[in-house]
Amino acid sequence: LGIGSGRTVGAFLDALAAKVQQGMSLEAACASQESAWAARRAGLRVRPLEEVGTLDLAVDGTDLLTEGLDCIKGGGGALARERLVALGAPHLLVIAEEDKLRETLAGEVVPVEVLSFAHKDTAGRLRALGCAVTLRMSGGEPYRTDNGNPIYDCRPRPDIAPFALHDAFLETPGVVASGYFLGMAHEALLAGPRGVRRVLRRRGQ
Ligand code: A5P
Repeated sequence: LGIGSGRTVGAFLDALAAKVQQGMSLEAACASQESAWAARRAGLRVRPLEEVGTLDLAVDGTDLLTEGLDCIKGGGGALARERLVALGAPHLLVIAEEDKLRETLAGEVVPVEVLSFAHKDTAGRLRALGCAVTLRMSGGEPYRTDNGNPIYDCRPRPDIAPFALHDAFLETPGVVASGYFLGMAHEALLAGPRGVRRVLRRRGQ
């Protein structure tokens, strides 16, 4: 099992703990140190992604998603590793609260992980792509991902298409990872306070 990160994934792991106690045996590759701790606590055997080979299923939360299952991720800062975990599985299941659903991701804030080296220059390049950028902070210091990199939260002009901007991010020197997860998810479970209320599936799934 590939495990992303965040609060929702934490709740999923709590639910899995009960299954493990009933005898289900699971191995996991995790996108963050926090998830790895939570997975171990839940009784899963945690292994590095590169040792596992192909995963059967990846499960992750999201910050926002559309009915077409395009997502913005990285609110918790694990975007680079979440993409690697998601790509390690043939099926990415997104679990989220239903109020994260949007008609479009255009104009929505998207996190971008950048190299620490000369990150202010990289921020200038992100601005030149049409984004208002904010360096993410934590405890008065620039936030650092598990990879030791800062994150710029980028609010693009609403007329910029997410697909084009994602490609532009990846072509920008200094950028490590984009928070756009476009065309990656296969299925989403959207929940309200009383449980799952909607299931979205990619066409053909
Ligand atoms: C972590 O970097 C994110 O991509 C999370 O998966 C996303 O922010 C969802 O987190 P919550 O489940 O905490 O809302």
